[in-house]
Amino acid sequence: MDKTFYITTPIYYVNDVPHIGHAYTTVACDVLARYKKARGCKVFFLTGTDEHGQKVEKAAIAQGETPLELADRVMQRFQGLWEKLNIDNTDFIRTSQERHKNGVRHLFEIIQAKGDIYLGEYEDWYCTPCETFWTETQLMDGNCPDCGRPTDKLKEESYFFRMSKYQDALLEHIEKNPDFIQPRTRRNEIISFIREGLRDLSISRTTFSWGIPVPDNDKHVIYVWFDALSNYITALGYPDDTDGNFERFWPADVHVIGKDILRFHTVYWPTFLLAAGIPLPKKVFAHGWWTVEGQKMSKSLRNVVEPNMLVDKYGVDPIRYFLLREVPFGLDGDFSHAALVHRINSDLANDLGNLLSRTTSMLHKYFGGILPEAAEEADLDTALKSRAATTVKEVDRHMEDLAFNKALMAIWELIRAGNKYIDETTPWALAKDENQRPRLGSVMYNLLELQRLTALLIAPFMPETGEKILSTLGQDKPDTRLEGQDSWGLLVPGTAIAKAPPLFPRIETE
Ligand code: MSP
Repeated sequence: MDKTFYITTPIYYVNDVPHIGHAYTTVACDVLARYKKARGCKVFFLTGTDEHGQKVEKAAIAQGETPLELADRVMQRFQGLWEKLNIDNTDFIRTSQERHKNGVRHLFEIIQAKGDIYLGEYEDWYCTPCETFWTETQLMDGNCPDCGRPTDKLKEESYFFRMSKYQDALLEHIEKNPDFIQPRTRRNEIISFIREGLRDLSISRTTFSWGIPVPDNDKHVIYVWFDALSNYITALGYPDDTDGNFERFWPADVHVIGKDILRFHTVYWPTFLLAAGIPLPKKVFAHGWWTVEGQKMSKSLRNVVEPNMLVDKYGVDPIRYFLLREVPFGLDGDFSHAALVHRINSDLANDLGNLLSRTTSMLHKYFGGILPEAAEEADLDTALKSRAATTVKEVDRHMEDLAFNKALMAIWELIRAGNKYIDETTPWALAKDENQRPRLGSVMYNLLELQRLTALLIAPFMPETGEKILSTLGQDKPDTRLEGQDSWGLLVPGTAIAKAPPLFPRIETE
């Protein structure tokens, strides 16, 4: 049976338009999905939109639309951006879809049937002018922490999930599965949160209506996080599973999320699943947050980075590369135009682009563009080959860890080793001596073979560039699979190699 790999992004709220933070998660998932595909896995890559809840309802009212009209409009902005960023998702789920709503109702009902959902009263402090509930500890001298006005104790009927019942089981799961929550620091944070004690969770609301009604009690809508988290199984066809995707792909291999929504994914979601008797996802990985030119991104600061504009200006592959190269996945990072331009000029134009153009122009000059054979092997060649084999292994290990920046660093070491190999073997000197013709041929072969491997390794990150390099190397239909193609020596002597297209023009700065 094929190995499977199921990877998800969070589903994005439709009250905001997509920005660089959303693009980040989605690109990262796309890269890993493409990598796993290249490694021979059957991949299901899910993204989508989170369309219910009070926030969306309010945003719609403010814009004079129905919530569904708003969702239809913003959902298209997300889909449009994913197309532009070359995102190859398997499915796109919207929480307003019938298939999703069915699955959520079912999940609610089976947990309820088990006795783990009960009707109770939600009792907290309410600030009427702000229409906000506050807990006792959030109040400032008994007043609303936002506006400072007095609050009233208010009761609202609510369904509760017996989260407290699953505290020990969850802790045990986290302890037995050290990789469940990553990175490590996040795991510790969640463990101490659970140890402080889990309270039962209010999972319905009666103060607004844009959501999925509670089965048999439509005064209530299901809490937006119960609704949203379920997307990870409803998209696979839960509970009917007519296509067999749930059976094939669940439990998810990894939910990739931002650090702000870790608690929902590592406390709420797993306890819902435990209650329903559904296996838990294998891993939840929380990445960090981007600031922009040193500042928090916010509408009021007018510094929200619009990914469409970036792609138009710099091209899709440089943006994908930058996002994953610049910051270790898991840590916070800063987006700046200067850093982006620097990466494009030094890593892409200089290292990667130059290697291909230097090599192919030499091949055309010395061999009329036809790949010679590697007739002999010198020490430098052996070292280069073994460097390439090590890189393939290192990249695999880093991808397992979602250490995208380390994978790219390893690939770039190989690229630089290629440039250095040219300087050390001095093909221009060999070309002057007819007796060195076999040696020159070997050098050219090794350089091009090195770039075939490089193209395969960078293709998940930069799909267009990977394919451009492979087509330069003579492939009419570039095949970016790594499985079966990641060993040395597969380029066939006699192949016609094109002159390199300009991959990345340098960006001039003042
Ligand atoms: N709808 C919920 C997720 C439900 S998943 C079952 C949600 N949506 S969101 O649109 O607000 O955020 C989606 C993702 O974008 C989160 O993972 C969040 O961390 C990420 N980011 C939002 N701003 C970000 C940055 N400035 N930097 C990096 N990621 C950021 O939460």
